[in-house]
Amino acid sequence: MTRHPSARARLTLVSLHDLNLPASFASDFVTELIGAFEREGAQQAGHSVRVALLSHYLGLEMQLPPETLKELFFSAILHDIGGIATDSHISRKLTEIPDIFGQKTDFQIFSHPARGYAILNRFPTLRKIAEVVYTHHEFYDGSGFPQGLKEDDIPLLSRIIRIADTTDIILRLHDIRETSELNGFLNIISGEEFDPAIYERFLSMLETRALLPVLVDDRAVLQQFREVRAQMKDQYYFAASDSLNRFFETVAALIDNVTTLDKQHSQRVAEFAEQVALALTLDQNQILQVRWAALLHDLGKVVGNRKIYTKSEKLSDIEWRAIRNHPEKSYEILNAVSGMQEIAFYVLHHHENYDGSGYPEGLAGDKIPLAARILRVADAFEAMTSERIYHRKRDWQMALRELHENSGKQFDPKIVDITVQAYQIK
Ligand SMILES: [Fe+2]
Ligand SMILES: [Fe+2]
Ligand SMILES: [Fe+2]
Repeated sequence: MTRHPSARARLTLVSLHDLNLPASFASDFVTELIGAFEREGAQQAGHSVRVALLSHYLGLEMQLPPETLKELFFSAILHDIGGIATDSHISRKLTEIPDIFGQKTDFQIFSHPARGYAILNRFPTLRKIAEVVYTHHEFYDGSGFPQGLKEDDIPLLSRIIRIADTTDIILRLHDIRETSELNGFLNIISGEEFDPAIYERFLSMLETRALLPVLVDDRAVLQQFREVRAQMKDQYYFAASDSLNRFFETVAALIDNVTTLDKQHSQRVAEFAEQVALALTLDQNQILQVRWAALLHDLGKVVGNRKIYTKSEKLSDIEWRAIRNHPEKSYEILNAVSGMQEIAFYVLHHHENYDGSGYPEGLAGDKIPLAARILRVADAFEAMTSERIYHRKRDWQMALRELHENSGKQFDPKIVDITVQAYQIK
């Protein structure tokens, strides 16, 4: 197999400047991503958005400096990242197990702050945020988890997020319209779960902003959230294309974790697609775009019922329709992030066939973007060479032969030739 050892080195050369990312790129992307995972069920949809909005307003009330507010906002959006790619979203599990002792003995609940920490701490610019995420379930009286930290030993931003987090869960469970009603639920745990001084500020903030009716109105929440988000200048949380690349790899692993059995699909597709892009001598930016599109192509699968992608029983018509709809869902999520529209477009077309028999638009030949034609081959090649529910793993040469047989039908002949050249065993 022809390898291109310089691939990794080349990827680090692209500066984020060339990618023209907007100032709020990091929060834009992360919000859409977490939002997609949260749309797995109705109850927790929008949880992180509301927690970020509540935390931000509380931070403003406490007159935190702008740099700290930015950290708070980003930490709040990400607070449950360690619990989004499990069998059900962590905030739903929390409502099922409301007592702290039960939470500490539930493995997924107990470990989600540490998982979130492990994901974020790999990025030098996100270390502080990782710390906040790690401690967001610590209780003021020391009865929280994972470390049982107390009072001021808990980072300030984690104490803020703690209040916002529980408030959102309570608001989802009960029909609450007045601050006094909410206080009826929360007052008893202030001092135990919450920092009482911050809780005081929180209540007065809710009152002055008349926030409760907003929080139960999804559109109003989104509008206020977008206004706040637009002010964030945080694109340099991913300061280099290399760290952005690593972040997308992390996202791919989260997608694979809930939508595939082998938990590797997107990452392997990205390897194949990148090799093809290199062999086609595309320029660095294009290679990156192909790689990122490959890492994110199945993002839409995390929305709604994810279990259909790993189900071994026969699928119903509705389930098949949902499966065919995933490129459009991936597109919607990515297209909402400015700076990622091109990648969104490639992803939309990753199931188009060269002869026009694919979906969603039935495009043919060169009408299909080149990156999408690469994805089509890489996606299929990965599926053929891995263990799937529908079929046994083909051997490598058989997979290459199958690519040839479908050359000009599903696949662009030029890309098949290049793939075969790159991957045939010599
Ligand atoms: Fe959490
Ligand atoms: Fe949460
Ligand atoms: Fe797909």
